[in-house]
Amino acid sequence: MEHAEAALALIPRPLRCVRLPGTFAIAEGTPIYTADVSADALMRAVLAELAPPIEAGDSSIRLMHEPILAGQVEAYRLTIQPSGIVVEATGTPGLLHAIQRIRQLLLDGPELPCCVIEDGPRFSWRGAHVDVARHMPPMLWLHRFIDLIALHGYNSLHLHLTDDQGWRMPIDRYPLLTEIGGWRARTMLRPARDGSPEVFEEERYGGSYTKAELRGLVEFAASRGVGVVPEIEMPGHATAAIAAYPELGNTGAKVEVSGSWAIHDGILNVDDGTLRFMQQVLEEVLDVFPSPFIHIGGDEVPTTQWRESETARARVRSEGLRDESQLYGWFLRRMAGWLRAQDRSTMVWDEALAAKLPADSTGIMAWRGEDAGRAAAGNSHPTVMAPRQFTYFDYYQSRDREREPLAIGGHLPLERVNAFEPLSPAMPVANQRHILGTQFQLWSEYLRTTEAVEYMAFPRACALAEVAWSPPAAKDFADFRRRLAVHLKRLDRLGVNYRPLGASE
Ligand code: ACM
Repeated sequence: MEHAEAALALIPRPLRCVRLPGTFAIAEGTPIYTADVSADALMRAVLAELAPPIEAGDSSIRLMHEPILAGQVEAYRLTIQPSGIVVEATGTPGLLHAIQRIRQLLLDGPELPCCVIEDGPRFSWRGAHVDVARHMPPMLWLHRFIDLIALHGYNSLHLHLTDDQGWRMPIDRYPLLTEIGGWRARTMLRPARDGSPEVFEEERYGGSYTKAELRGLVEFAASRGVGVVPEIEMPGHATAAIAAYPELGNTGAKVEVSGSWAIHDGILNVDDGTLRFMQQVLEEVLDVFPSPFIHIGGDEVPTTQWRESETARARVRSEGLRDESQLYGWFLRRMAGWLRAQDRSTMVWDEALAAKLPADSTGIMAWRGEDAGRAAAGNSHPTVMAPRQFTYFDYYQSRDREREPLAIGGHLPLERVNAFEPLSPAMPVANQRHILGTQFQLWSEYLRTTEAVEYMAFPRACALAEVAWSPPAAKDFADFRRRLAVHLKRLDRLGVNYRPLGASE
């Protein structure tokens, strides 16, 4: 059976896959029978993308809702026989996953191998994060990227919409967030190194999406079974917002949208007006993004400016806090409480574990390491394992840095991604149920083009897809590499600018 799986070379590896004799030739005119509108639309899109314009014979594609694998919500059974294709799935997500399997096989050619695949994902959160603040990809590419991650079983796109270097979502009530906060005067091309100073490109850079584009993205993502999680950073990583509205800052000084990549001191102040401002921003975010989780950042917040602020000190006294550092938790608790009142859950980076946010409505994204994720799950927070050591795809793919495009640092080769185990080492069983899944991060300081993003994303996204989807017991890197060699031809056909195998790691 393992051999049969290898012959199909699917990624991520399905739960069960048996090759049957024969093939089925798919054609553009093959009739599709289904009562599921979403599955019908995706199947038609895939046929339009890939099916050859040959006469359809006496065959069909049937996409049906049937509870399988004990009703697991995303499960499906895909049967390909010479007479046609039958998919049974517990619900729409399973049908969409099965169609992506068909799409992978169609990328190999119009003759589909007969087989039975019974499958469903291991984790419910299979995420891809894109930083559109540091560099902003065209909206059309974001659609393409969703199509690519859906092909690999991912179901969540995390859009990092704001940071010190740019604000990308227009807020009608506060238009300067994009009009001023969306643009920077220059961009750091290289960090200081070996006694040489940083190198900047002295050119205005920026832009923003429209709300209509963002709504369109959400709708397209939904058609691919992908949810879009927006992130609005607070109280740190807020320089672009403060550049637009200096009253949000602590010093009153005019600041520029930043063009460099260090952690910035400029954080939001703790005035009631500033919290209200950010809630009004989030009101418009909620209106565009139906996501159950709204990400409010919470990472890398130096409290230097709060220590020096009379307003902040007054807030410490009036709230009975120990010192300014506790304003961090106070700020996030206020925002998370407001989100909960709007029936949304909050997502935060793992520093916010210290903020003692309510576990039932606050998810933690563990980026600094697996310990942070274990601590979050130990406190009953829904937890996404995104440790930088395994999931930061802005890290180098090889130790041979001179041969690689400039990256932020680190070393994360394919094999290491494949080796990641979100529940290890030794997470108590009682806490494992809090682990929602895993996600890769594409921070874009040095990813200036979509080609550069794809180079960093693939094939590592193929490896993490298996971590998120496939059962861990049979994990075998050599087997993954064999399947990947076939799979990369599919990515070739889709024009993906992946990093080739065989280059040094
Ligand atoms: C992060 O990398 N600062 C979440």
